[in-house]
Amino acid sequence: MKYDTLIAAAKAARLQAYAPYSKFQVGAAIEADDGMIFTGCNVENLSFGLTVCAERVAINTAVAAGKRAFRKLVVFADSSEPVTPCGACRQVLVEFCDELEVCSINLAGNEHHTTLSVLLPRAKAGILG
Ligand code: THU
Repeated sequence: MKYDTLIAAAKAARLQAYAPYSKFQVGAAIEADDGMIFTGCNVENLSFGLTVCAERVAINTAVAAGKRAFRKLVVFADSSEPVTPCGACRQVLVEFCDELEVCSINLAGNEHHTTLSVLLPRAKAGILG
């Protein structure tokens, strides 16, 4: 499947970002294994540590809708280089995604493609077993 729909969803989600502190708006769109798409934006807080990234909002929304497996993620931001999920988001994503394609794209249209296993290798090795 092409990324056009996911990219459009992430771009639209970015416009909902609540980012009065960083002024850095991020949108994310994740595709579940049944093709459904869920979106998220970053939601900041005066207590900075409570800020939630767009990627976690998207996947948590999907999980709340009953989804448990995912194929693709798009992260959309206005940065000189495409943005990849932060370490915390990688760990949350890997809970539900053994293999996830990650596309990062900026307003200029520069795309970067990778996978979650590249971004977070050996994520579950040795834990609880
Ligand atoms: N942010 C995201 O939402 N996703 C990322 O992948 C990188 C960072 C947000 C968190 C914070 O609101 C702002 O961008 C600056 O770090």
